[in-house]
Amino acid sequence: MQGLDLYTDGNTLLGVGDDAGVYLYGGEVFVHTVDFITPVVNDPYLWGGIAAVNSLSDVYAMGCTPLSALAVVGFNQCDLGLEVFREVMRGCADKLREAKVVLLGGHTVEDKEPKFGLAVTGVCPQGKYLTQQGARPGELLALTKPVGVGILTKALKEGKISDQDMGKSVEFMLRLNDGASQLAREFASACTDVTGFGLLGHAYNIARKSGVMLSIEFSRVPAYPLSVSLVKEGIYPKGAVDNYNYLKEELQSEGLEWWQLLLLSDPVTSGGLLFTFPQERAPLLQRRAQELGVEVWIVGQVEEGRGLRVY
Ligand code: CO
Ligand code: CO
Ligand code: CO
Repeated sequence: MQGLDLYTDGNTLLGVGDDAGVYLYGGEVFVHTVDFITPVVNDPYLWGGIAAVNSLSDVYAMGCTPLSALAVVGFNQCDLGLEVFREVMRGCADKLREAKVVLLGGHTVEDKEPKFGLAVTGVCPQGKYLTQQGARPGELLALTKPVGVGILTKALKEGKISDQDMGKSVEFMLRLNDGASQLAREFASACTDVTGFGLLGHAYNIARKSGVMLSIEFSRVPAYPLSVSLVKEGIYPKGAVDNYNYLKEELQSEGLEWWQLLLLSDPVTSGGLLFTFPQERAPLLQRRAQELGVEVWIVGQVEEGRGLRVY
């Protein structure tokens, strides 16, 4: 989008570059985002649900409430059949009901490789939305879902693991970030969600936008055990390497092995929220997380400086 002369008006509170765009209209603050993915599991019902949760995530990452959605569909009816498409939509519908989001329409195109997702509109009280900016030195860094999904999906697509081997990762991908968003609203200074750029890529966004250094302790980062063994065997998506290469100039990673860097760079589908919060509120945050039924891992801290450090 760089160098593109985009029309904006005085109501554009936040344009291209954060998790969602924010627009002020008639005293209301609206957030807009769109996301779609290729299949990450074989079951079409589960894929529809995961794609929906993944698309809603950017609104939750802004600390906002999603209201309505439009389906974005790439599908080849001849290859897959209408019944498969119905299952994808049913998976999506169930998640939208859980999130209390209405589907207002959508658009489908013929596509050899199926794609599914949502354009989502949300709202938020004025001045209350969270962005990737605002992390302060001394704060802690919290993550609400494990990493390693891209590695599992890659192995599944190549037939190296079975549907059952996906294990808890499916449950996590199907989990809405609504509870995590509530937690972030109450505690976070800066917030994003972990998706295609991997934990390191999204952490770097917070570091760059906030003008700080984020320090991540590898042993504290939750990862699926099978992802760890697969990446050690050399099974990982190309995206993990691309993400790492994109970042390596900004990254200090003394003492970490290649597989560890790949795991932290692995593209995530429907990942958790990643946010910074004041250290002294850590005990309270853990209590609130429990009340909200949100799993939360403290994976690092904010320091003076620039960029990323993993150790
Ligand atoms: Co995002
Ligand atoms: Co997104
Ligand atoms: Co249309």
